[in-house]
Amino acid sequence: MNKQSSLNLEIKTNDSVMYRNLYQQIRDQILNGFLAPRARLPSTRSLAAELGCSRGTIERAYDMLLSEGYIHGAGAAGTRVNPNLDPKLIAAGVLGTDGKPVNGTTHQSQETPPLSLQLGLPALNAFPRKLWSRLINKHMRNMGAHQFARGNAFGYFPLRQAIANYLAISRGVNTEPEQIFITSGFQGALSTIVQCLSSAEDQIWCEDPGYFRARDCLNQLGVPVIPVPVDENGLQVSLGIKMADKAKFALITPTHQSPMGVTLSLARRMELLHWAATQGSWIIEDDYDSEFRYGEKPLPALKSLDANNRVIYVGSFSKVLIPSLRLGYIVVPKPLQIRFEESLSSLWSVGSLLEQKVVTEFMAEGHFSLHIKKMRSLYAERRAALASALQKRLAGEMTLSLQVGGMHLIAELKNVKDEKRLQQKALELGIALHFLSHFLIKVTCPPTLLLSFTNVDVADAERVVGLLAQAIEACTKN
Ligand SMILES: Cc1ncc(COP(=O)(O)O)c(C=O)c1O
Repeated sequence: MNKQSSLNLEIKTNDSVMYRNLYQQIRDQILNGFLAPRARLPSTRSLAAELGCSRGTIERAYDMLLSEGYIHGAGAAGTRVNPNLDPKLIAAGVLGTDGKPVNGTTHQSQETPPLSLQLGLPALNAFPRKLWSRLINKHMRNMGAHQFARGNAFGYFPLRQAIANYLAISRGVNTEPEQIFITSGFQGALSTIVQCLSSAEDQIWCEDPGYFRARDCLNQLGVPVIPVPVDENGLQVSLGIKMADKAKFALITPTHQSPMGVTLSLARRMELLHWAATQGSWIIEDDYDSEFRYGEKPLPALKSLDANNRVIYVGSFSKVLIPSLRLGYIVVPKPLQIRFEESLSSLWSVGSLLEQKVVTEFMAEGHFSLHIKKMRSLYAERRAALASALQKRLAGEMTLSLQVGGMHLIAELKNVKDEKRLQQKALELGIALHFLSHFLIKVTCPPTLLLSFTNVDVADAERVVGLLAQAIEACTKN
Protein backbone atom coordinates (compact mmCIF):
# COMPACT_ATOMS: atom_id res chain seq x y z
CA MET A 1 0.00 0.00 0.00
CA ASN A 2 1.32 3.48 -0.88
CA LYS A 3 1.20 6.50 1.42
CA GLN A 4 1.92 10.10 0.41
CA SER A 5 3.07 13.06 2.48
CA SER A 6 2.91 16.84 2.17
CA LEU A 7 6.54 16.83 1.07
CA ASN A 8 5.54 14.79 -1.95
CA LEU A 9 7.17 11.75 -0.48
CA GLU A 10 5.79 8.41 -1.30
CA ILE A 11 6.54 5.19 0.49
CA LYS A 12 5.35 1.65 0.37
CA THR A 13 4.52 0.78 3.94
CA ASN A 14 5.53 -2.84 3.46
CA ASP A 15 8.97 -1.89 2.15
CA SER A 16 11.80 -3.36 4.27
CA VAL A 17 14.19 -0.56 3.33
CA MET A 18 11.69 2.26 3.66
CA TYR A 19 14.21 4.55 5.35
CA ARG A 20 16.53 4.29 2.35
CA ASN A 21 13.78 5.13 -0.11
CA LEU A 22 12.84 8.11 2.01
CA TYR A 23 16.44 9.22 2.23
CA GLN A 24 16.77 9.01 -1.56
CA GLN A 25 13.56 10.91 -2.22
CA ILE A 26 14.43 13.74 0.15
CA ARG A 27 17.98 13.89 -1.21
CA ASP A 28 16.62 14.08 -4.79
CA GLN A 29 14.29 16.90 -3.80
CA ILE A 30 17.22 18.80 -2.33
CA LEU A 31 19.33 18.21 -5.43
CA ASN A 32 16.63 19.20 -7.87
CA GLY A 33 15.94 22.38 -5.91
CA PHE A 34 12.42 21.45 -4.79
CA LEU A 35 13.68 21.71 -1.23
CA ALA A 36 15.70 24.93 -1.09
CA PRO A 37 18.66 25.60 1.21
CA ARG A 38 17.27 26.45 4.68
CA ALA A 39 13.88 24.85 3.91
CA ARG A 40 12.37 23.32 7.01
CA LEU A 41 11.63 19.61 7.11
CA PRO A 42 8.71 18.21 9.11
CA SER A 43 9.53 16.79 12.52
CA THR A 44 10.12 13.05 12.63
CA ARG A 45 6.94 12.64 14.63
CA SER A 46 4.66 14.47 12.18
CA LEU A 47 6.22 12.91 9.08
CA ALA A 48 5.89 9.46 10.60
CA ALA A 49 2.24 10.15 11.36
CA GLU A 50 1.61 11.43 7.81
CA LEU A 51 3.28 8.48 6.18
CA GLY A 52 1.94 5.91 8.61
CA CYS A 53 5.35 4.51 9.47
CA SER A 54 7.47 4.39 12.61
CA ARG A 55 9.38 7.41 13.87
CA GLY A 56 12.52 5.24 13.82
CA THR A 57 12.24 4.94 10.02
CA ILE A 58 12.16 8.71 9.60
CA GLU A 59 15.00 9.15 12.11
CA ARG A 60 17.15 6.70 10.17
CA ALA A 61 16.53 8.53 6.88
CA TYR A 62 17.24 11.90 8.53
CA ASP A 63 20.41 10.48 10.10
CA MET A 64 21.72 9.48 6.68
CA LEU A 65 20.92 12.93 5.27
CA LEU A 66 22.54 14.54 8.31
CA SER A 67 25.71 12.47 8.08
CA GLU A 68 26.10 13.33 4.40
CA GLY A 69 25.51 17.02 5.06
CA TYR A 70 22.22 17.46 3.19
CA ILE A 71 20.40 18.66 6.29
CA HIS A 72 21.18 20.27 9.61
CA GLY A 73 19.49 19.48 12.88
CA ALA A 74 19.03 22.87 14.49
CA GLY A 75 17.42 22.15 17.85
CA ALA A 76 14.40 24.35 18.43
CA ALA A 77 14.70 25.74 14.92
CA GLY A 78 13.93 22.24 13.60
CA THR A 79 15.56 20.23 10.88
CA ARG A 80 16.50 22.27 7.85
CA VAL A 81 18.15 21.79 4.48
CA ASN A 82 21.82 22.75 4.77
CA PRO A 83 21.92 26.54 4.10
CA ASN A 84 25.27 26.26 2.27
CA LEU A 85 23.97 24.02 -0.45
CA ASP A 86 23.78 25.17 -4.01
CA PRO A 87 21.80 22.42 -5.75
CA LYS A 88 23.03 23.42 -9.21
CA LEU A 89 26.65 23.08 -8.18
CA ILE A 90 26.00 19.86 -6.32
CA ALA A 91 24.24 18.33 -9.30
CA ALA A 92 27.15 19.39 -11.52
CA GLY A 93 29.52 17.67 -9.10
CA VAL A 94 31.32 20.91 -8.23
CA LEU A 95 30.15 21.17 -4.62
CA GLY A 96 29.53 18.52 -2.03
CA THR A 97 26.61 18.50 0.36
CA ASP A 98 28.77 20.23 2.93
CA GLY A 99 28.79 23.18 0.54
CA LYS A 100 32.50 22.56 -0.05
CA PRO A 101 33.90 21.84 -3.48
CA VAL A 102 33.97 18.09 -3.96
CA ASN A 103 37.53 16.89 -3.98
CA GLY A 104 36.91 13.62 -5.70
CA THR A 105 34.44 14.74 -8.29
CA THR A 106 35.07 18.36 -9.14
CA HIS A 107 34.21 18.96 -12.74
CA GLN A 108 34.09 15.27 -13.48
CA SER A 109 31.64 15.26 -16.31
CA GLN A 110 31.53 14.03 -19.87
CA GLU A 111 30.18 17.37 -21.07
CA THR A 112 33.41 19.32 -20.79
CA PRO A 113 37.10 18.40 -20.98
CA PRO A 114 38.65 17.60 -17.58
CA LEU A 115 40.38 20.46 -15.81
CA SER A 116 44.11 20.15 -15.16
CA LEU A 117 44.89 17.90 -12.16
CA GLN A 118 41.42 16.30 -12.23
CA LEU A 119 41.65 13.19 -10.09
CA GLY A 120 40.56 9.69 -11.04
CA LEU A 121 40.98 9.77 -14.81
CA PRO A 122 43.42 7.96 -17.09
CA ALA A 123 45.10 9.99 -19.88
CA LEU A 124 41.98 10.53 -21.94
CA ASN A 125 43.72 11.84 -25.03
CA ALA A 126 46.11 8.87 -25.12
CA PHE A 127 43.32 6.35 -25.65
CA PRO A 128 43.93 4.42 -28.91
CA ARG A 129 40.88 5.81 -30.66
CA LYS A 130 41.76 4.73 -34.19
CA LEU A 131 42.31 1.12 -33.28
CA TRP A 132 39.18 1.15 -31.12
CA SER A 133 37.07 2.55 -33.98
CA ARG A 134 38.42 -0.12 -36.30
CA LEU A 135 37.46 -2.85 -33.83
CA ILE A 136 34.04 -1.32 -33.19
CA ASN A 137 33.35 -1.19 -36.94
CA LYS A 138 34.56 -4.70 -37.48
CA HIS A 139 32.46 -6.21 -34.71
CA MET A 140 29.39 -4.19 -35.60
CA ARG A 141 29.63 -5.43 -39.17
CA ASN A 142 30.08 -9.02 -38.08
CA MET A 143 27.44 -9.18 -35.38
CA GLY A 144 24.39 -11.26 -36.24
CA ALA A 145 21.06 -9.47 -35.84
CA HIS A 146 20.20 -11.90 -33.01
CA GLN A 147 23.10 -10.41 -31.04
CA PHE A 148 21.28 -7.10 -30.82
CA ALA A 149 19.04 -8.74 -28.22
CA ARG A 150 20.03 -8.85 -24.55
CA GLY A 151 23.10 -10.88 -23.74
CA ASN A 152 24.26 -13.32 -21.10
CA ALA A 153 23.73 -12.00 -17.55
CA PHE A 154 27.19 -13.21 -16.50
CA GLY A 155 28.92 -11.38 -19.35
CA TYR A 156 30.31 -12.32 -22.77
CA PHE A 157 32.07 -15.63 -22.26
CA PRO A 158 35.15 -14.94 -24.45
CA LEU A 159 35.71 -11.75 -22.43
CA ARG A 160 35.58 -13.77 -19.21
CA GLN A 161 38.18 -16.09 -20.76
CA ALA A 162 40.41 -13.19 -21.82
CA ILE A 163 40.21 -11.73 -18.29
CA ALA A 164 41.09 -15.12 -16.75
CA ASN A 165 44.21 -15.29 -18.97
CA TYR A 166 45.19 -11.74 -18.13
CA LEU A 167 44.76 -12.26 -14.37
CA ALA A 168 46.87 -15.43 -14.39
CA ILE A 169 49.74 -13.73 -16.20
CA SER A 170 49.61 -10.24 -14.72
CA ARG A 171 48.04 -10.47 -11.28
CA GLY A 172 48.97 -13.97 -10.09
CA VAL A 173 45.27 -14.88 -9.89
CA ASN A 174 44.27 -18.30 -11.14
CA THR A 175 40.61 -18.57 -11.94
CA GLU A 176 38.26 -20.31 -14.30
CA PRO A 177 36.31 -18.00 -16.61
CA GLU A 178 33.07 -19.28 -15.07
CA GLN A 179 34.09 -17.65 -11.78
CA ILE A 180 34.22 -14.24 -13.50
CA PHE A 181 31.12 -12.04 -13.77
CA ILE A 182 31.08 -8.89 -15.89
CA THR A 183 29.71 -5.83 -14.08
CA SER A 184 29.04 -2.19 -14.63
CA GLY A 185 32.40 -1.03 -13.28
CA PHE A 186 33.53 -1.26 -9.68
CA GLN A 187 30.33 0.20 -8.28
CA GLY A 188 28.27 -2.38 -10.14
CA ALA A 189 30.54 -5.09 -8.77
CA LEU A 190 30.23 -3.86 -5.19
CA SER A 191 26.43 -3.67 -5.42
CA THR A 192 26.26 -7.16 -6.89
CA ILE A 193 28.44 -8.63 -4.14
CA VAL A 194 26.42 -6.96 -1.40
CA GLN A 195 23.13 -8.01 -2.99
CA CYS A 196 24.29 -11.61 -3.35
CA LEU A 197 25.92 -12.09 0.04
CA SER A 198 24.69 -9.56 2.55
CA SER A 199 21.81 -9.78 4.93
CA ALA A 200 20.37 -7.04 7.14
CA GLU A 201 22.81 -5.45 9.61
CA ASP A 202 25.92 -7.08 8.09
CA GLN A 203 28.83 -4.68 8.59
CA ILE A 204 31.69 -3.87 6.26
CA TRP A 205 35.18 -2.62 7.11
CA CYS A 206 36.25 0.26 4.89
CA GLU A 207 39.65 1.89 4.77
CA ASP A 208 39.94 5.29 6.46
CA PRO A 209 40.95 7.21 4.39
CA GLY A 210 39.34 5.32 1.56
CA TYR A 211 37.55 5.57 -1.77
CA PHE A 212 34.50 7.76 -1.09
CA ARG A 213 32.49 6.41 -4.02
CA ALA A 214 32.58 2.94 -2.49
CA ARG A 215 31.22 4.43 0.73
CA ASP A 216 28.50 6.32 -1.14
CA CYS A 217 27.49 3.08 -2.80
CA LEU A 218 27.44 1.21 0.53
CA ASN A 219 25.42 3.98 2.15
CA GLN A 220 22.88 3.72 -0.63
CA LEU A 221 22.74 -0.03 -0.14
CA GLY A 222 22.22 0.51 3.59
CA VAL A 223 25.33 -1.46 4.67
CA PRO A 224 26.84 -0.13 7.93
CA VAL A 225 30.43 0.99 7.32
CA ILE A 226 33.14 0.43 9.96
CA PRO A 227 35.97 2.89 9.26
CA VAL A 228 39.30 1.13 9.87
CA PRO A 229 42.36 3.42 9.94
CA VAL A 230 45.21 2.96 7.46
CA ASP A 231 48.91 3.48 8.24
CA GLU A 232 52.12 3.03 6.25
CA ASN A 233 51.49 -0.74 6.13
CA GLY A 234 47.93 -0.39 4.91
CA LEU A 235 44.70 -1.30 6.69
CA GLN A 236 45.22 -1.78 10.43
CA VAL A 237 43.69 -5.22 10.62
CA SER A 238 44.03 -5.54 14.41
CA LEU A 239 42.01 -2.32 14.86
CA GLY A 240 39.35 -3.68 12.52
CA ILE A 241 39.13 -6.81 14.64
CA LYS A 242 38.82 -4.69 17.78
CA MET A 243 36.13 -2.49 16.25
CA ALA A 244 34.00 -5.18 14.58
CA ASP A 245 35.42 -8.67 14.53
CA LYS A 246 32.12 -10.07 13.26
CA ALA A 247 31.96 -7.81 10.19
CA LYS A 248 30.80 -9.75 7.16
CA PHE A 249 33.07 -7.93 4.70
CA ALA A 250 36.35 -6.05 4.48
CA LEU A 251 36.65 -3.79 1.44
CA ILE A 252 40.28 -3.10 0.72
CA THR A 253 42.74 -1.79 -1.90
CA PRO A 254 45.76 -3.89 -0.84
CA THR A 255 48.17 -3.34 -3.72
CA HIS A 256 47.87 0.42 -3.91
CA GLN A 257 45.77 1.86 -1.12
CA SER A 258 43.31 4.46 -2.32
CA PRO A 259 44.25 7.26 -1.87
CA MET A 260 47.45 6.95 0.23
CA GLY A 261 49.24 4.64 -2.20
CA VAL A 262 50.71 2.35 0.48
CA THR A 263 50.83 -1.42 0.10
CA LEU A 264 49.28 -3.84 2.56
CA SER A 265 52.28 -5.55 4.19
CA LEU A 266 52.66 -9.29 4.00
CA ALA A 267 52.09 -9.64 7.76
CA ARG A 268 48.81 -7.69 7.46
CA ARG A 269 47.79 -9.72 4.40
CA MET A 270 48.19 -12.91 6.40
CA GLU A 271 46.39 -11.40 9.40
CA LEU A 272 43.47 -10.30 7.23
CA LEU A 273 43.19 -13.66 5.47
CA HIS A 274 43.32 -15.44 8.81
CA TRP A 275 40.58 -13.24 10.26
CA ALA A 276 38.34 -13.82 7.23
CA ALA A 277 38.88 -17.58 7.34
CA THR A 278 38.17 -17.72 11.08
CA GLN A 279 35.08 -15.52 10.95
CA GLY A 280 33.72 -16.76 7.64
CA SER A 281 33.91 -13.16 6.39
CA TRP A 282 34.56 -11.97 2.84
CA ILE A 283 37.44 -9.78 1.73
CA ILE A 284 36.55 -7.63 -1.27
CA GLU A 285 39.80 -6.80 -3.04
CA ASP A 286 39.49 -3.66 -5.19
CA ASP A 287 42.43 -3.96 -7.60
CA TYR A 288 41.68 -0.78 -9.51
CA ASP A 289 45.06 0.55 -10.70
CA SER A 290 47.77 -1.93 -9.70
CA GLU A 291 49.14 -2.00 -13.23
CA PHE A 292 50.66 1.43 -12.74
CA ARG A 293 53.87 1.13 -10.76
CA TYR A 294 56.95 3.06 -11.73
CA GLY A 295 60.36 1.44 -11.66
CA GLU A 296 58.96 -1.67 -9.96
CA LYS A 297 57.00 -4.65 -11.19
CA PRO A 298 53.30 -4.66 -10.24
CA LEU A 299 52.74 -6.62 -7.02
CA PRO A 300 50.64 -9.78 -7.09
CA ALA A 301 47.07 -9.43 -5.90
CA LEU A 302 46.01 -10.40 -2.37
CA LYS A 303 43.78 -12.95 -4.11
CA SER A 304 46.92 -14.86 -5.13
CA LEU A 305 47.41 -15.81 -1.42
CA ASP A 306 43.80 -16.82 -0.86
CA ALA A 307 44.15 -20.47 0.15
CA ASN A 308 40.81 -20.50 2.00
CA ASN A 309 38.62 -18.96 -0.71
CA ARG A 310 37.73 -15.82 1.24
CA VAL A 311 38.76 -13.15 -1.30
CA ILE A 312 36.36 -11.78 -3.86
CA TYR A 313 38.49 -9.97 -6.41
CA VAL A 314 37.16 -6.93 -8.29
CA GLY A 315 38.76 -5.42 -11.38
CA SER A 316 37.72 -2.44 -13.49
CA PHE A 317 38.56 -1.15 -16.96
CA SER A 318 38.09 2.45 -15.84
CA LYS A 319 41.77 3.16 -15.16
CA VAL A 320 43.42 0.78 -17.61
CA LEU A 321 41.13 1.77 -20.51
CA ILE A 322 38.50 4.50 -20.07
CA PRO A 323 35.84 5.05 -17.38
CA SER A 324 33.00 5.68 -19.84
CA LEU A 325 33.08 2.00 -20.84
CA ARG A 326 31.56 1.23 -17.42
CA LEU A 327 33.02 -2.26 -17.48
CA GLY A 328 34.37 -4.17 -14.53
CA TYR A 329 34.32 -7.72 -13.22
CA ILE A 330 34.09 -9.86 -10.11
CA VAL A 331 36.11 -13.02 -9.58
CA VAL A 332 34.30 -15.14 -7.04
CA PRO A 333 35.80 -18.06 -5.12
CA LYS A 334 34.73 -21.35 -6.69
CA PRO A 335 32.33 -22.25 -3.83
CA LEU A 336 30.40 -19.02 -4.49
CA GLN A 337 30.04 -19.48 -8.23
CA ILE A 338 26.61 -21.13 -8.18
CA ARG A 339 25.26 -18.61 -5.70
CA PHE A 340 26.27 -15.73 -7.99
CA GLU A 341 24.92 -17.52 -11.05
CA GLU A 342 21.58 -18.05 -9.36
CA SER A 343 21.42 -14.50 -8.17
CA LEU A 344 22.42 -12.95 -11.49
CA SER A 345 20.46 -15.21 -13.79
CA SER A 346 17.23 -13.34 -13.08
CA LEU A 347 18.80 -10.02 -14.12
CA TRP A 348 19.50 -8.59 -17.56
CA SER A 349 23.07 -8.50 -18.78
CA VAL A 350 25.16 -5.40 -18.11
CA GLY A 351 27.43 -3.69 -20.61
CA SER A 352 26.98 -3.67 -24.36
CA LEU A 353 27.93 -6.84 -26.20
CA LEU A 354 29.63 -4.75 -28.90
CA GLU A 355 32.02 -3.19 -26.42
CA GLN A 356 32.61 -6.47 -24.62
CA LYS A 357 33.59 -7.99 -27.96
CA VAL A 358 35.95 -5.11 -28.66
CA VAL A 359 37.58 -5.37 -25.22
CA THR A 360 37.94 -9.13 -25.77
CA GLU A 361 39.81 -8.69 -29.03
CA PHE A 362 41.83 -5.84 -27.55
CA MET A 363 42.98 -8.17 -24.79
CA ALA A 364 43.38 -11.35 -26.81
CA GLU A 365 45.42 -9.68 -29.57
CA GLY A 366 47.93 -8.14 -27.17
CA HIS A 367 46.78 -4.52 -27.56
CA PHE A 368 45.81 -4.36 -23.90
CA SER A 369 49.22 -5.20 -22.45
CA LEU A 370 50.83 -2.88 -24.99
CA HIS A 371 48.46 -0.07 -24.01
CA ILE A 372 49.21 -0.57 -20.30
CA LYS A 373 52.93 -0.55 -21.05
CA LYS A 374 52.60 2.67 -23.03
CA MET A 375 50.50 4.33 -20.33
CA ARG A 376 52.96 3.25 -17.65
CA SER A 377 55.80 5.04 -19.39
CA LEU A 378 53.64 8.07 -20.27
CA TYR A 379 52.54 8.35 -16.63
CA ALA A 380 56.10 7.91 -15.40
CA GLU A 381 57.14 10.92 -17.53
CA ARG A 382 54.16 13.03 -16.53
CA ARG A 383 54.60 12.14 -12.87
CA ALA A 384 58.28 13.12 -12.95
CA ALA A 385 57.52 16.38 -14.79
CA LEU A 386 54.79 17.42 -12.37
CA ALA A 387 56.85 16.46 -9.32
CA SER A 388 59.86 18.38 -10.55
CA ALA A 389 57.79 21.50 -11.38
CA LEU A 390 56.21 21.34 -7.90
CA GLN A 391 59.60 20.96 -6.20
CA LYS A 392 60.98 23.89 -8.16
CA ARG A 393 58.13 26.28 -7.59
CA LEU A 394 56.35 25.20 -4.42
CA ALA A 395 58.84 23.38 -2.17
CA GLY A 396 58.29 26.01 0.54
CA GLU A 397 54.54 25.51 0.43
CA MET A 398 54.22 21.74 0.49
CA THR A 399 55.75 18.42 1.42
CA LEU A 400 55.49 16.23 -1.61
CA SER A 401 55.39 12.45 -1.50
CA LEU A 402 55.89 10.33 -4.54
CA GLN A 403 54.32 6.92 -4.26
CA VAL A 404 55.73 4.00 -6.21
CA GLY A 405 52.49 3.58 -8.08
CA GLY A 406 49.17 5.14 -8.92
CA MET A 407 48.00 8.19 -10.77
CA HIS A 408 48.43 11.05 -8.31
CA LEU A 409 50.96 12.74 -6.05
CA ILE A 410 50.26 13.62 -2.43
CA ALA A 411 51.21 17.08 -1.21
CA GLU A 412 50.72 18.21 2.37
CA LEU A 413 50.26 21.97 2.41
CA LYS A 414 52.30 23.93 4.93
CA ASN A 415 50.52 27.27 4.99
CA VAL A 416 47.02 26.87 3.58
CA LYS A 417 44.32 26.65 6.20
CA ASP A 418 41.14 26.95 4.17
CA GLU A 419 40.75 24.10 1.68
CA LYS A 420 37.47 25.39 0.29
CA ARG A 421 38.91 28.79 -0.48
CA LEU A 422 41.93 27.29 -2.23
CA GLN A 423 39.76 24.97 -4.24
CA GLN A 424 37.50 27.77 -5.37
CA LYS A 425 40.43 29.99 -6.28
CA ALA A 426 41.96 27.12 -8.27
CA LEU A 427 38.66 26.45 -10.06
CA GLU A 428 38.57 30.07 -11.16
CA LEU A 429 42.01 29.54 -12.67
CA GLY A 430 40.91 26.34 -14.42
CA ILE A 431 42.44 23.67 -12.22
CA ALA A 432 40.63 21.01 -10.21
CA LEU A 433 41.97 20.45 -6.72
CA HIS A 434 41.14 17.44 -4.60
CA PHE A 435 41.83 17.11 -0.90
CA LEU A 436 42.58 14.07 1.18
CA SER A 437 39.90 15.23 3.63
CA HIS A 438 37.23 14.04 1.20
CA PHE A 439 38.49 10.47 1.57
CA LEU A 440 38.50 10.51 5.37
CA ILE A 441 35.76 9.07 7.51
CA LYS A 442 36.85 9.56 11.13
CA VAL A 443 40.58 10.23 11.08
CA THR A 444 41.75 13.80 10.50
CA CYS A 445 44.65 15.31 8.54
CA PRO A 446 46.18 18.70 7.72
CA PRO A 447 45.19 20.17 4.31
CA THR A 448 46.65 17.72 1.81
CA LEU A 449 46.31 17.79 -1.96
CA LEU A 450 45.94 14.78 -4.24
CA LEU A 451 47.38 15.90 -7.57
CA SER A 452 46.66 13.75 -10.61
CA PHE A 453 49.39 13.80 -13.24
CA THR A 454 47.73 11.58 -15.87
CA ASN A 455 46.29 14.41 -17.94
CA VAL A 456 49.08 16.97 -17.50
CA ASP A 457 51.38 16.97 -20.53
CA VAL A 458 55.08 17.18 -19.71
CA ALA A 459 55.24 20.48 -21.61
CA ASP A 460 52.33 21.87 -19.61
CA ALA A 461 53.48 20.91 -16.10
CA GLU A 462 55.16 24.23 -15.28
CA ARG A 463 52.16 26.27 -16.44
CA VAL A 464 49.77 24.17 -14.32
CA VAL A 465 52.04 24.45 -11.29
CA GLY A 466 52.23 28.21 -11.91
CA LEU A 467 48.44 28.38 -11.65
CA LEU A 468 48.49 26.30 -8.49
CA ALA A 469 51.13 28.61 -7.03
CA GLN A 470 48.94 31.61 -7.89
CA ALA A 471 45.95 30.02 -6.14
CA ILE A 472 48.01 29.15 -3.06
CA GLU A 473 49.48 32.63 -2.92
CA ALA A 474 46.02 34.19 -3.08
CA CYS A 475 44.97 32.06 -0.10
CA THR A 476 48.03 32.52 2.07
CA LYS A 477 48.77 36.26 1.79
CA ASN A 478 46.91 38.43 4.25
C1 LIG B 1 39.63 3.04 -5.49
C2 LIG B 1 38.91 2.87 -6.79
N1 LIG B 1 38.31 1.71 -7.04
C3 LIG B 1 37.65 1.50 -8.21
C4 LIG B 1 37.60 2.47 -9.18
C5 LIG B 1 36.87 2.18 -10.46
O1 LIG B 1 35.54 2.53 -10.38
P1 LIG B 1 34.54 2.29 -11.60
O2 LIG B 1 34.89 0.97 -12.21
O3 LIG B 1 33.18 2.27 -10.96
O4 LIG B 1 34.74 3.41 -12.56
C6 LIG B 1 38.20 3.69 -8.96
C7 LIG B 1 38.11 4.74 -9.99
O5 LIG B 1 38.35 5.88 -9.83
C8 LIG B 1 38.89 3.89 -7.73
O6 LIG B 1 39.51 5.05 -7.47
